[in-house]
Amino acid sequence: MSASTLTLLIVGTGNVGRALAKRFAKTSHRVFLGSRDDDTGRRAAKELGVRGGAATSFVAEADVIFLAVPFVNLSETLDGLGNIDGKTIVDCTNPLTSDYMQLTVGHSDSAGETCQRLAPRSKVVKAFNAIFAEVVSAEMSFGAMAPQVFLAGDDAESKLRVASLVRDIGYDAVDTGGMECARYLEPLAELIIQLAYVQGQGTVITPVILTASSPPPSSH
Ligand SMILES: NC(=O)c1ccc[n+]([C@@H]2O[C@H](COP(=O)([O-])OP(=O)(O)OC[C@H]3O[C@@H](n4cnc5c(N)ncnc54)[C@H](OP(=O)(O)O)[C@@H]3O)[C@@H](O)[C@H]2O)c1
Repeated sequence: MSASTLTLLIVGTGNVGRALAKRFAKTSHRVFLGSRDDDTGRRAAKELGVRGGAATSFVAEADVIFLAVPFVNLSETLDGLGNIDGKTIVDCTNPLTSDYMQLTVGHSDSAGETCQRLAPRSKVVKAFNAIFAEVVSAEMSFGAMAPQVFLAGDDAESKLRVASLVRDIGYDAVDTGGMECARYLEPLAELIIQLAYVQGQGTVITPVILTASSPPPSSH
């Protein structure tokens, strides 16, 4: 196994967990799909051609753990995983109301910062929160542009690791800064939810930051 091959544990067998497992299954990384329930994890993983079962059984082996669970269940999910000290944790969650139409945390805090507080000895990276699971799962293409995955986090090495994983599935990684920037990435997720479900654009959209290819004209 090459040095760049990582063992990934994806926690949660819903839309995001399955989408990530499906995509990372096509890379050189080892992928485990973990659930609260061993049978659920095994069944979901089998459909996607990866290994799966109870999430706790894969924690010790995992280099990177993706949290693809509802934000309201983040704390119990982390408790259920056991010892995750030193691990790179990817927080995919958004703090949404039950109708998905608003955020429950914001301005001065975020789900990402909450996750880092709940797992103080782990290295949390916010990522994959502002890209629809359908975009990832269906491998939607957007012309010449690759979808972007926005990252935030306080551990530079873990962010580089996650950025590399993002590129392994063909996406661009955009480092937005420290974990405080999750305060801005979570509203971005709510924005695409509004566009998809309220404005009727559907989950075939994805946000990107464009950089001008020519400098702006001088104002002097
Ligand atoms: N859907 C999207 O397009 C999208 C995109 C970006 C980010 N997100 C965020 O990513 C997270 C997961 O979204 P999702 O759409 O994958 O959600 P989902 O389809 O509802 O799946 C969530 C999974 O979390 C696990 N889970 C753990 N504890 C749970 C509990 N007490 N109640 C219910 N489920 C529990 C379940 O997996 P097990 O039964 O296997 O434990 C469940 O399948 C959310 O925070 C969401 O805001 C969603």
